[in-house]
Amino acid sequence: MAHDQISIPLLLFLICTLSAATVNHATLTGKFGENGAMKRKLLDNGLGQTPQMGWNSYNHFPCKLSEELIHQIADAMVSTGLSALGYEYINLDDCWAELNRDSKGNLVPKASIFPSGMKALANYVHSKGLKIGIYADAGTLTCSKTMPGSLNYEEQDANTFASWGIDYLKYDNCHNNGLSPQERYSNMSKALLNTGRPIFYSLCEWGQDNPATWASSIGNSWRTTGDIKDTWESMTSRADLNDVWASYAGPGGWNDPDMLEVGNGGMSTEEYRSHFSIWALAKAPLLLGCDIRSMDNETFELLSNKEVIEVNQDKLGAQGKKVKKTGDLEVWSGPLSDNRVAVVLWNRESSEATIIADWSDLGLNSSAVVDARDLWTHSTIYSIRDQLKATVEAHACKMYVLTPH
Ligand code: GLA
Repeated sequence: MAHDQISIPLLLFLICTLSAATVNHATLTGKFGENGAMKRKLLDNGLGQTPQMGWNSYNHFPCKLSEELIHQIADAMVSTGLSALGYEYINLDDCWAELNRDSKGNLVPKASIFPSGMKALANYVHSKGLKIGIYADAGTLTCSKTMPGSLNYEEQDANTFASWGIDYLKYDNCHNNGLSPQERYSNMSKALLNTGRPIFYSLCEWGQDNPATWASSIGNSWRTTGDIKDTWESMTSRADLNDVWASYAGPGGWNDPDMLEVGNGGMSTEEYRSHFSIWALAKAPLLLGCDIRSMDNETFELLSNKEVIEVNQDKLGAQGKKVKKTGDLEVWSGPLSDNRVAVVLWNRESSEATIIADWSDLGLNSSAVVDARDLWTHSTIYSIRDQLKATVEAHACKMYVLTPH
């Protein structure tokens, strides 16, 4: 057949393909409706294609913000090499504003701690190649009660944030007058979109109204739990509460079991290794919550594990989940791109134990032969059949990526 001729079968194939594309588009519009249109705009901005990575002030510095601190954190993010690994957002939490708005109703940065203002702060963070996030509340006051909420000021505040060059908003849920979260959180979503600036939108509704079921159409992540504390009990319970919603996460919108406590001193190194591994596997936001200016080597080693971060940032974006539980011995697993499988063998008992994951637990064919990369020892076990088995210390975990032959 000459190149400029088109055969009848090829023509038919093209017609079918084009009409299928039209049907798909119609189905999408029908399924997601008006909210879908908003989500597509957020996605068009390219935000949240993988879980967000960065730092937030709250876990280590609740209400102890300052311009100097944020400068130093941004400096440390770059000088430690963490920014090169993907940690990009420097996020202020509660307590950055004056209690009263100005005469025009604008939010005002607290002069005693941010004397140069927010635009200057954003410029500084941007000059480091990083992005800056801010915090507001979908009620009348923030949780600390030290600054005003954004209820009924959504457009004005979104415009203020955009004018300062803000890249990320965490939107909290205190003092909300019992109004519907869907409405309050949608109003800010629309206001952010209307600014025309791509602003990552993180809903902090604490999982009260099952946001996984509605928030993916308006935001890039949503909290599924109340606040984490720097303890083993708090961390494990956040992991379990978040796990229930695994099927709702994906590129553009992520379940958020709250920020990392790694490096804050309340857990052992093995407990923090479990914390970081499970957050990575569950496609949770990796928002550092320690003082990265002075973290010790062990903390840095955990937070900078490139292979674990790659699981979190895998382009397939499938949240790994708990697939087997025998007492407190657990297997967590999820698919990765290129037919690979991520696995965490997690010993939640208080003494050493052997944990086994059978291929059927991991969704692998019974005849599969895999190479298992151990992401914490950085070594590979070749050609394994039937099951993955390891002895794991108390409160510790082993994390693998399995590549079928
Ligand atoms: C709530 C949020 C926390 C933090 C504090 C700040 O508790 O859930 O993550 O932002 O408010 O006051």
